[in-house]
Amino acid sequence: MKSAPSSKSKTEIRRSIRRGLLRWFRNHPRPMPWRSTRDPYRIWLAEILLQQTRVRSALPYYRKFLERFPDMESLARAPFRDVLRAWSGLGYYARARNLHAAAGEILRRFDGRIPDTRTALLALPGIGPYTASALLSFIHGKREGVVDGNVARVLTRLFLVPGNPRSGPVLERLRGIADDLVPARRSRDFNLAMIDIGAAICRPRAPRCPECPLVTHCRARAEDLRERYPEIPPRRKTERVGRLVAVMHRADRLFLVRRPEKGLLGGMWEFPGYDSRAGARGAGRLSRELTRRWKIPVRAAGEPAVAEHSITYRSIRVHAFRATIPANAEIPGGEWIRGRDLARYPITTATRKILERKKS
Ligand code: ADE
Repeated sequence: MKSAPSSKSKTEIRRSIRRGLLRWFRNHPRPMPWRSTRDPYRIWLAEILLQQTRVRSALPYYRKFLERFPDMESLARAPFRDVLRAWSGLGYYARARNLHAAAGEILRRFDGRIPDTRTALLALPGIGPYTASALLSFIHGKREGVVDGNVARVLTRLFLVPGNPRSGPVLERLRGIADDLVPARRSRDFNLAMIDIGAAICRPRAPRCPECPLVTHCRARAEDLRERYPEIPPRRKTERVGRLVAVMHRADRLFLVRRPEKGLLGGMWEFPGYDSRAGARGAGRLSRELTRRWKIPVRAAGEPAVAEHSITYRSIRVHAFRATIPANAEIPGGEWIRGRDLARYPITTATRKILERKKS
């Protein structure tokens, strides 16, 4: 009796996947400035910028950063305020703080060179498992699989991996699969190909399977389960919150306060105010709150300027009222900043929006 034809061995499948991916990558280049450089500083900077930001939004910041901080030393030695200013508008400000702190450590402890071990990389501020793998592969050419959200989608479909890929155990499993698949040579091109296929072909909805070099290996495609994988639970609902702020003038100066160092938008400057229920918009409430806080009479009045702003799952509606205090009253904390000096301060996006409304 004839034996059944043996299915392809795991090694053969791996080889075929690698070959297909690398060929596809050669034929579908996605030019990005950080891909055409060998400068580790530039590659590292790009990876930090791309952590929570799309390629298109990251590009102008990447250029601005390189103009202002062309190498590790200039970044490490810059005052943090300058770094925050260059970052202003990108969101997730803890990243700016970590970027600056990591530059200092790399300069001091590693003589300005980006470490080439996972342990040393993970010990730097702002570098998690994803970025560590990316740096080991892209800078040091190490055999490391790189799993971002897009790559996770490709892998869960390719091998029909159940569970939420954002959860620890599933992500660990995906990293194991990626480490297994990635070739020792050209690991960078392999990983970039996976990232690009995740971004452009293996999309969350309506994936473009006929264009995919992995289509013959894809189990989700074979079993028509593409839209069911990855198994990500529904998004957290957007929470609507309100904020009332006071815009106070003294001659050509505006009063701004600095947010606490730790926490959301740490160290950024903004108009003083407080979070209120969504929709709450009374000038009277704002006056009472600031009067209580500063122990001086504050009068907010008139029609507010309104700005909408989103941070993660929060949609914030800011009502900004003109406000006055007695001529020589002192407010604890904060600064009276000249209009023309504002550009030197890292201000929150909501504050900038209000300033723009007030101008127009
Ligand atoms: N090219 C290099 N790193 C990248 C990343 N993290 N995301 C998208 N494209 C990249």
